[in-house]
Amino acid sequence: MQAVMCAIQREVDVYVAINRGRALSTAIGFDDIDRTRIEIVILELTRNLLAHAGGGTLLLEPASQDGRNGLTVEARDTGPGIPDIALAMRDGFSTAHTLGAGLPGVQRLMDDFSIESTVGAGTAVRATKWLPVRAQRERRRL
Ligand SMILES: Nc1ncnc2c1ncn2[C@@H]1O[C@H](COP(=O)(O)OP(=O)(O)OP(=O)(O)O)[C@@H](O)[C@H]1O
Ligand SMILES: [Mg+2]
Repeated sequence: MQAVMCAIQREVDVYVAINRGRALSTAIGFDDIDRTRIEIVILELTRNLLAHAGGGTLLLEPASQDGRNGLTVEARDTGPGIPDIALAMRDGFSTAHTLGAGLPGVQRLMDDFSIESTVGAGTAVRATKWLPVRAQRERRRL
């Protein structure tokens, strides 16, 4: 399965990325609930690219580790960066006067999560969802 790279410059790109994410999640074997989680994550990360960084790119990358399959969603930009990552991760913190629920929500919805950011250079947010072991066993039997 191929990784998919989406340029995120306008609102419509958000929906294109969500569609691509849904197709990849289905191909990997995620159930409806996990697929919805992944779609919300793509929505939040791409909205952040538009709202806080003037756009960027979203990478959807099939992952595998210790015999387990998953999907990594990575948002990258060359925007202003995040000066205090711990603060940005707090529920309710927003510099845009919006809910401030995006990043902490993304962390809760996924299994692995990391942010790298340099002020003045940009931000990369990476989050991976792993296929539950049971779903993976069922797929092998197909
Ligand atoms: N790609 C980014 N570049 C620069 N700053 C960012 C980026 N993503 C998030 N931030 C900073 O982190 C803060 C928290 O992000 P988060 O997504 O949790 O909330 P929000 O986008 O402000 O509001 P919400 O997502 O609830 O509409 C943002 O207000 C912004 O200051
Ligand atoms: Mg947000």
